[in-house]
Amino acid sequence: MGEPYKRELVEELRDVVRGSNWQCVGEVALLKQKKCQRVFVEEGEDLVLLHTAGKFYAMEALCAHEGGPLDDGDIEDLDGRAVVVCPWHSFEFDLETGESSSGLKQDVYRVETVGGEVYINIASDVSLYSNRQDRIPEEITTVPSSSSGKVCDPADKDSLTYWAVQILNTADPDNKVSLTEQIGELWRSGEITAVGYHKPPDQPCRDPQLSVVDPGKEKRRGRGGTLSSRITNLHALANIEQWAIDLAWDIIARFSGDSVAGQPLPKTFFDDFVKVACDEAKHYSLISTRLRDLGSHFGSQPVHNGLWQTASETSESLLARLAVVHMVHEARGLDVQPHTLEKFARHGDEASAKVLEVVYEEEITHVAAGLKWFTYICTNSNPTKECIPTFHELVRKHFRGYLKPPFNFEGRESAGMVREWYLPLVKPIT
Ligand code: FES
Ligand SMILES: [Fe+2]
Ligand SMILES: [Fe+2]
Repeated sequence: MGEPYKRELVEELRDVVRGSNWQCVGEVALLKQKKCQRVFVEEGEDLVLLHTAGKFYAMEALCAHEGGPLDDGDIEDLDGRAVVVCPWHSFEFDLETGESSSGLKQDVYRVETVGGEVYINIASDVSLYSNRQDRIPEEITTVPSSSSGKVCDPADKDSLTYWAVQILNTADPDNKVSLTEQIGELWRSGEITAVGYHKPPDQPCRDPQLSVVDPGKEKRRGRGGTLSSRITNLHALANIEQWAIDLAWDIIARFSGDSVAGQPLPKTFFDDFVKVACDEAKHYSLISTRLRDLGSHFGSQPVHNGLWQTASETSESLLARLAVVHMVHEARGLDVQPHTLEKFARHGDEASAKVLEVVYEEEITHVAAGLKWFTYICTNSNPTKECIPTFHELVRKHFRGYLKPPFNFEGRESAGMVREWYLPLVKPIT
């Protein structure tokens, strides 16, 4: 009895759909087989289609933090709300609102199912298949586990890049930290003066005991502020700091042979990045100690190895590396750190909040170092390059997606990053 009426309604709805911004993605039966999947958008940023408890959701695919691929994320239950957890640094985004406890927000899109098909409300055409050339490269899932037992060549132990490579090849994070501290001291005291040139590995080594995130696996998170959720947060931060130590040694080794208008990079370039490496080692130590104080340890939770992707993508250009790693990613850290810190303090974990305060202050100097050397290279090149337009060009080329507010204007300004640098890279309002 009701069947013809329903069919009519469906037909009517189809007409509405055709004349509007509703885009068909595909059949429900097919799409519900995956929890998170990429939807390619003809004009604009890709989306991720999410499916949980019989319902579909859609949001921007690239994480508002540093562009991590949310289609490789996990859907989890957070206090009865469904969230997608970014695989890179574990920030969570509410499927309904796109909001995150980090203070960041993803744009969300309406999704409807009509006549067994899934529709997303977006102006541009969408497809499950990409015909673009710029598809994100395969994510890094295997990382060399160790070559830390390598015997050093005594004749060469006095060059900075020799040690940079040794540290990159050190898998155990505690050994990585201790070697970083020692080499930092030898460089500062002048016992090591030669920069040398040693080729860094494509990827730094990692402890084989670390378990790598398995995308698509459902987990339950504790309430925000519980011990277990604070441990999860600190663990993700320790993982970031471990990669940050490697990024600092990698920039030293990889670009040590670069020249600017025929001149080698000044010694102060290496001073600055040795200092960054030592700061990151300190950050890792402080956070991993805090994890132990809370009865956990680094390695107790799965981590994701996708964090090296940006390093690989900028391995050919020092300017691109400075722009994306230090002036986009590290500046992004300044946007979210105060929020994280405040969350720990609010839940009475003053000790963790104090650690994050130290980290925050030093991260400002890392963004400043990136800006200083980016500007130095542009202005001393022959011919000279215009700093801000060059920055925009490189970020558009090497960073996926737009920069997304909110920004910590004050923190960024203390690093010298005024709004002209980053606001033109924000998604235009449509
Ligand atoms: S949490 Fe998504 S990129 Fe950092
Ligand atoms: Fe750090
Ligand atoms: Fe840093």
